[in-house]
This record gives sequence, C-alpha cells and structure tokens, in this order.
Amino acid sequence: MQAFLEKLTPADAEFELARAIDPERLPAHIAIIMDGNGRWARRRHLPRVAGHEAGMQATRVTVETCARLGIKILTLYAFSTENWKRPRGEVETLWRLLRKYLRRELPEMLRHGVRLRVIGRLEALPEGVRRDVFEAVETSASNRGMLLNVALNYSGRAELVDAVTALLEEARAANRLAGLKVTEEAIAAHLYTAGLPDPDLLIRTSGEMRISNFLLWQIAYTELYLTETLWPDFWRRDRRFGGLSGGSGVRPSEECLATALSARTP
Ligand code: FPP
Repeated sequence: MQAFLEKLTPADAEFELARAIDPERLPAHIAIIMDGNGRWARRRHLPRVAGHEAGMQATRVTVETCARLGIKILTLYAFSTENWKRPRGEVETLWRLLRKYLRRELPEMLRHGVRLRVIGRLEALPEGVRRDVFEAVETSASNRGMLLNVALNYSGRAELVDAVTALLEEARAANRLAGLKVTEEAIAAHLYTAGLPDPDLLIRTSGEMRISNFLLWQIAYTELYLTETLWPDFWRRDRRFGGLSGGSGVRPSEECLATALSARTP
C-alpha cells in the first residue's frame, strides 16, 4: 500500500482516491463478479467479443492494482457453469481470452510475486485450457505475493455438493461413516477455497443485484459493493491518456477498484 501511494503523484487520476483508502481497513480478500462485457459492447454496436476483450483489460489493471495495494487474495468469477449455455463461438472466445491472458500476463504476475490458483470443476475445461492453466499454477506456485484465485466452470452449489461428497467419501474410506459429525468447519475444509479466509468485500459490476451462484458459503458475512459501471469501464485511465489533456479522447471511468475501497472508509 505504501509503495503504491509513493508512486502516485497529484497528477494521477487515482491520487485522491488512493489517499482516501484507509490502509487499516484494506480487505485481505476481494472477490469480483465481473459483469457487463456484453452490454458494454452492445452500447458501442460492437460484437460481444469486443466486450470481453475490453473486460480483459479491466481484469489486467485490477489484478495489478490489487497486487500493488498489497491485497492478499483476489478471487475472480471468470466462467460459471451457466456460461456453457452461451453460443459456442462466445464460449470459445472466453477460453481463448483466458489463454491469451495467461500467456501475456504470466511474466508480469511472476514479477509481482502473484500466485495463481483456480477453483471450479476443472476436469470439464477444454484440454488446452486445462494444460495452460495448470502450467501457470505450477510456475507461480512458489510465489509469496497476492493469491489470484480464478473461478472457472464454477458454481457455488456444485462446490457445496463436491465438498459434502468429499467429506462423505473420506469418512467412508476411513470406516468412520456411522459416527460422522458434519460441522461448518468440516464443510469449509472441503470447499475449493479450503484454507483461505472468506472474502471481506464482494464487488459486482453492471447494476445486477444478484450473487449468481458465486461463493455462496464464503460470502455469508461479506460486505457487498454493487455498481452500475460495466466491467470494461471499471478501471481508471491515467489522465495522460484520459482525454483531459487532449489525449485519446477516451473519458476516464468514474469508477475503479480504488473507488470501491475508498467507499469503505467511514
Ligand atoms: C460477464 O459479462 C463476463 C464474463 C462472462 C466473463 C468474464 C471474462 C472476462 C472479464 C474476460 C477475461 C477474463 C480473464 C480472467 C482473463 P457478460 O457477457 O455476462 O455481460 P452482459 O451481462 O452485459 O451480457
């Protein structure tokens, strides 16, 4: 956090916001439902693919900002079990973008000490995606910086089913089924997120007031930050590029991660 602040100058769009963040109340674990890529594209008369491409840029900036702020864990909802129902071309685009993201960002992630972990029913991922994902997980396994936890083919209900199934199977294998006591701790220890603290903050973009089957168990006490901003707009362009001084003409977004974090301070 200190290093992040020291790099900012009053000319940076994030300066005032970053100063408003209370380092004492920085969440250890942030979870994000990145929503609104399709609407972002439609508003611009672009194909949905363009929305996902733009969403990838917002993801990149958010991951980097979290790592620089010293956030311990960032969990991103990248692909839900429901997403298979989308047209095949769009599903393929999402996997292609994920692979592109890993290829491009892995060196940067390693430089920042980011460790990658994935949660979800991973056995159903296309072969090439699974290979790239596990390679990136292995390559970053010894990093000690932020944990980037990406939910792929994820469903909160499926996670609970898998946790209870694992619990029962373990007990059966140890011949302890008859005396099995199911506790909250035992369920938590068998979730995909076992060993991780629950999120302190859940952000959802694009104005939807729903949880959409994300981290159902883990967000029992999590603070919610819901915003109308579409995911591809959920990052701030630096003023030099923001059109304020005759740059690209692109208006800086009103909102970004720093807005969500500064909104938490009393
Ligand atoms: C929701 O927008 C977003 C997704 C289904 C996928 C999220 C993917 C990205 C942000 C791109 C890359 C991510 C990674 C981790 C590399 P939507 O299509 O549901 O939008 P809509 O509700 O407006 O249609």
